[in-house]
Amino acid sequence: MSAVTYEHIKTCKQSGARLGIVHTPHGSFETPMFMPVGTQATVKTVSPEELHAMNAKIILSNTYHLWLRPGNEVIREAGGLHKFMNWDGPILTDSGGFQVFSLSDMRKIEEEGVHFRHHLNGSKLFLSPEKAMHIQNDLGSDIMMAFDECPPMPAEYQYVKDSIERTSRWAERCLEAHNRPEDQALFGIIQGGEYEELRTQSAKDLVSLDFPGYAIGGLSVGEPKPVMYRVLEHTTPLMPFNKPRYLMGVGSPDALIEGAIRGIDMFDCVLPTRIARNGTCMTSKGRVVVKNAKYERDFTPLDENCDCYTCRNYTKAYIRHLIKADETFGIRLTSIHNLHFLLNMMEQVRDAIRNDRLLDFKEEFFESYGLNVE
Ligand code: GUN
Ligand code: ZN
Repeated sequence: MSAVTYEHIKTCKQSGARLGIVHTPHGSFETPMFMPVGTQATVKTVSPEELHAMNAKIILSNTYHLWLRPGNEVIREAGGLHKFMNWDGPILTDSGGFQVFSLSDMRKIEEEGVHFRHHLNGSKLFLSPEKAMHIQNDLGSDIMMAFDECPPMPAEYQYVKDSIERTSRWAERCLEAHNRPEDQALFGIIQGGEYEELRTQSAKDLVSLDFPGYAIGGLSVGEPKPVMYRVLEHTTPLMPFNKPRYLMGVGSPDALIEGAIRGIDMFDCVLPTRIARNGTCMTSKGRVVVKNAKYERDFTPLDENCDCYTCRNYTKAYIRHLIKADETFGIRLTSIHNLHFLLNMMEQVRDAIRNDRLLDFKEEFFESYGLNVE
């Protein structure tokens, strides 16, 4: 039996979205679920206690960053990432593939792996499927990701075809190099850019390798949303029904709902914490840019409909002041609110699936948030 399993609860009669439970060695969580990102073994400015309080169930961290600093040996010696960062819930680690492509300079892709330069000090580095597995085994995450290439969009058909074929060979090497399958699950990543035939080929290759879960990568890399939704509609039916389906790097409220409607179970994104750091908040009435002058004397919470720690205790005027004065506490308050908002929205998505009304929920949510329903 795999370290991670998917239990299907029901399918929404109105939308086709799935309600399920993912079981991991560090606990179970309901899906569809949003995973806060803790790149450097911390969800920026938010403590594990605060994550639990906002009902975060699983967090994501990054092989690339933890390998470079503090080093996977340090984390292994600490007893693994859960102990090191004091988070006892499930952890998913990305493989480093994507970060090499988005952060580093001068990369050179070879069959063996990727040569590149450190994004901070310029030193020469090399990452391969075997190395990414070794590091993730040291980190001890519940879900590890296969080492993949995320091609840019747009990219030439032939380039993407060669790339997915290499990603499939790398996926096979990841499976061979994985030495803790009893307590860590390795997920495969389907690539293929905007090309449906290549998505099909990539999905077939990976499904034949029998991973315990599958991700869709290479989306939200600058393409228009309708392209992403078309690729999702094409790809999720090719993924095994009885295994988790994870859409990587997607976290805007509309894309989470549209992804769930297309059969996605898991999502992650830096969006809520990143925009929080410049004072942008997601609320039930749309985005609030709390630095705006109009909030100078606004003594109401960020979101009247939110019961997070921030909204229960602080006003827009106060948070605006903190952010403008560069006080860290302001960023903590907006980060806590944004994460709570998305986690709470996903709970509402799950309730809507349970009640066969996700399309109705989407319409109500989009209307209130100020989005257009297609
Ligand atoms: N995060 C967002 N997109 C991707 C992707 O395509 N691959 C990996 N490994 N991580 C991602
Ligand atoms: Zn709030």
